[in-house]
Amino acid sequence: MSADRRVVEEVVVEANERVATGVGLVALRAPRIAQSVLPGQFVHLRIAEGTAFILRRPFSVHRAHGETIEVLYQVVGTGTRWLSSREPGDAMDAIGPLGTGWSVPDGAAHALLVAGGLGAAPLGMLAEDLAARGVAVTVAQGAPTAERLVARDLFERVARTVATATDDGSAGVRGFVTALVPGLIEEIRPDVVYACGPEPMMCAVAAAARDAGVACQVSLERLMACGVGACLSCTVTTRSGLKRACADGPVFDAADVVWAQDEVEGLKR
Ligand SMILES: Cc1cc2nc3c(=O)[nH]c(=O)nc-3n(C[C@H](O)[C@H](O)[C@H](O)COP(=O)(O)OP(=O)(O)OC[C@H]3O[C@@H](n4cnc5c(N)ncnc54)[C@H](O)[C@@H]3O)c2cc1C
Ligand code: FES
Repeated sequence: MSADRRVVEEVVVEANERVATGVGLVALRAPRIAQSVLPGQFVHLRIAEGTAFILRRPFSVHRAHGETIEVLYQVVGTGTRWLSSREPGDAMDAIGPLGTGWSVPDGAAHALLVAGGLGAAPLGMLAEDLAARGVAVTVAQGAPTAERLVARDLFERVARTVATATDDGSAGVRGFVTALVPGLIEEIRPDVVYACGPEPMMCAVAAAARDAGVACQVSLERLMACGVGACLSCTVTTRSGLKRACADGPVFDAADVVWAQDEVEGLKR
């Protein structure tokens, strides 16, 4: 799914609140982006005014409703700290919607969404869209601790089941979310698996889906400079050559991705 309806838009903060340890949710009034964004696409936000920050920062659109888009962000550095300090009424410059979105196979009846940490961000809008199309949704979500689980309300509202894993066992089963995936695939027999999270997690989910013969899509993060396909700073190695995460992705068919693990094993998979 992709649509090149990108615009440069001055967006205005409607609300900005902390939703988990080190994680904020900013609601931005962005009428033009909100009306055309597809699940899985992202926006490129200009950080601060002037030229203090040369590069924009990419963020998935977590939800879109009316004239508003929502972005879930983890505070990791100067740009996301700046974002966390924005208040209602503050404006910023955004380019979007960018990239390809998730695609829904024809006739899909049940989808498994696997979210690791902030990987929940691009899956929110997808979960709502699938439920609106009548596709049953099962979510497997993992995080280091219960306080780091994000978007719970949304997933619990639209999913049939939300299975949880935390590293410390403070919610759901103790361990990585990947441990839940083979059993869920066997139990619900999904038509498609969607995953976003740390790359080793996505690699393991892709392997479980491949072993079960189920289609799988992953959303890949790369360092991005231009965000629009021009600079080649965001390349992804695929079985059909180098691709750009910003323009050819960030969503890729998992079977096409050459994971770091594959490179170590000499493309045995
Ligand atoms: C397609 C896409 C979607 C994303 N969606 C989200 C999201 O929904 N929520 C969220 O919290 N984060 C998301 N990220 C990661 C987010 O862009 C980075 O965390 C953010 O740019 C860090 O900025 P900073 O200034 O705080 O960090 P710094 O480390 O100070 O940034 C320095 C530079 O590195 C770049 N950079 C750092 N980490 C990343 C990264 N992981 N990916 C891309 N560029 C990075 C920044 O753009 C900047 O140019 C996404 C990344 C991509 C590529
Ligand atoms: S960020 Fe420039 S080509 Fe992708």
